[in-house]
Amino acid sequence: MWTRYKILIFSYLVTEIWMEKQYVSEREVDPGADFTRNLTVVEVTRFKRAIFKGQYCRSFGCCEDRDDDCVTQFYEANALCYCDKFCERKNSDCCPDYKSFCQDEKEPWHPEGCLRNGQHYKEGSVMKENCNSCTCSGQQWQCSKHVCLIEPELIEHVNKGDYGWTAQNYSQFWGMTLEEGFKHRLGTLPPSPVLLSMNEVTAPLPAVTDLPEFFVASYKWPGWTHGPLDQKNCAASWAFSTASVAADRIAIQSKGRYTANLSPQNLISCCAKNRHGCNSGSIDRAWWYLRKRGLVSHACYPFFKDQNATNNVCAMASRSDGRGKRHATKPCPNNIEKSNRIYQCSPPYRVSSNEIEIMKEIMHNGPVQAIMQVHEDFFQYKSGIYRHVTSTNEVSEKYRKLRTHAVKLTGWGMLRGAQGQKEKFWIAANSWGHSWGENGYFRILRGVNESDIEKLIIAAWGQLTSSDEP
Ligand SMILES: *[C@@H]1O[C@H](CO)[C@@H](O)[C@H](O)[C@H]1NC(C)=O
Ligand SMILES: *[C@@H]1O[C@H](CO)[C@@H](O)[C@H](O)[C@H]1NC(C)=O
Ligand SMILES: *[C@@H]1O[C@H](CO)[C@@H](O)[C@H](O)[C@H]1NC(C)=O
Ligand SMILES: *[C@@H]1O[C@H](CO)[C@@H](O)[C@H](O)[C@H]1NC(C)=O
Repeated sequence: MWTRYKILIFSYLVTEIWMEKQYVSEREVDPGADFTRNLTVVEVTRFKRAIFKGQYCRSFGCCEDRDDDCVTQFYEANALCYCDKFCERKNSDCCPDYKSFCQDEKEPWHPEGCLRNGQHYKEGSVMKENCNSCTCSGQQWQCSKHVCLIEPELIEHVNKGDYGWTAQNYSQFWGMTLEEGFKHRLGTLPPSPVLLSMNEVTAPLPAVTDLPEFFVASYKWPGWTHGPLDQKNCAASWAFSTASVAADRIAIQSKGRYTANLSPQNLISCCAKNRHGCNSGSIDRAWWYLRKRGLVSHACYPFFKDQNATNNVCAMASRSDGRGKRHATKPCPNNIEKSNRIYQCSPPYRVSSNEIEIMKEIMHNGPVQAIMQVHEDFFQYKSGIYRHVTSTNEVSEKYRKLRTHAVKLTGWGMLRGAQGQKEKFWIAANSWGHSWGENGYFRILRGVNESDIEKLIIAAWGQLTSSDEP
């Protein structure tokens, strides 16, 4: 603390000395053509008015327009300086305190209320400044001090640096606190020990040499994979990522016979033992539900804009027909979609964390689910290959945060970085809508467990009965 004050005082002194030097040099060096004061009127008595060091205009007073009488002795420089408006020219001969004293004094004075961007606000006015609200009280703005989800300094830091990705302000995140962002936009509980102790399945898939440099699931299976949805302020990435991976896998495995996207809302409202709904959930329960109960399509059970207690009652269940198939107990909770077919999956399996194994799995069997750690900067990702960036200032200490999220890996690629180095990346689908990132997708460093993206990879098979086989 002390050192900071010392530095402040020191820099203040340096500035003062520097400014005084400026005044002197301007007078001495360039007494140019427009510098024509009638100094004969200077009354010696006036010199004495500047009694206190550093107080010129403050003790002498300020004058309008050109007033050659408005002069005082600049003792330290053994020169004269002025406090009239005329002194503010190119070759300023203003006293050092002219700006701070004479100009500030001229500001319009508001007996009540506060100023903001040149506008006057009444006492008691409330205004929002990003995620903080400020109240005008006692002629001053009193603001709350939350850390915001979008911090313009971090965006600038990322965009100025050479990190391989760019950051952007998002209107859907602007105005949220960091805490709210982490609370409402993610929503996957840390993986349970059961999930983490699952054996990794290594499929007997072809050798490494078969793997292309670039792979996108939607190119290999056009129309069978599903793009990102928008979870809005519903902390249910547990449901969005699971439903999306299951839907892709069912479409791929049925060779395009069942291409419906599956309903995350069905999981949110009905995965009863996972009653967190929009308050986070575990992916083990989501996969359990897909296997035991099954889901209807997204078209049948659409996502509610307004997630409240009334509409979060489970609208339908499924019942077994005794021949290995389940059927929905009720029609779709909307008037448009008639098909309430139930889709189910096999028990989930864990894919190896090895980069090559993950690639083989995606290429042969379809997209996989990845459980990652989201840091504060991730929300602001716009394009490029994401890697976590910390800015180093003091504010960012409070700003650092980390929470579990679930996304879908759909492919990979490789780029040359700015220094010519190879940059390998995964292509992943998030659930923050199409306006976020690269049309709802993001790329993230591959092979280095960036943000734990390779730590836990989950997949499952569609559960097709013999009558389903094409
Ligand atoms: C300087 O001031 C004196 C006294 O006010 C005046 O008589 C004189 O004309 C002025 N000179 C110039 C150049 O303005
Ligand atoms: C961010 O976006 C919001 C909404 O579009 C806007 O009101 C705000 O001024 C932007 N902030 C910055 C720093 O650009
Ligand atoms: C709950 O959501 C439904 C559907 O969006 C809406 O019609 C209803 O008014 C909401 N209820 C409350 C209490 O917000
Ligand atoms: C990824 O990183 C996390 C945390 O640092 C670690 O627990 C995990 O074992 C890592 N996984 C791999 C495959 O390196």
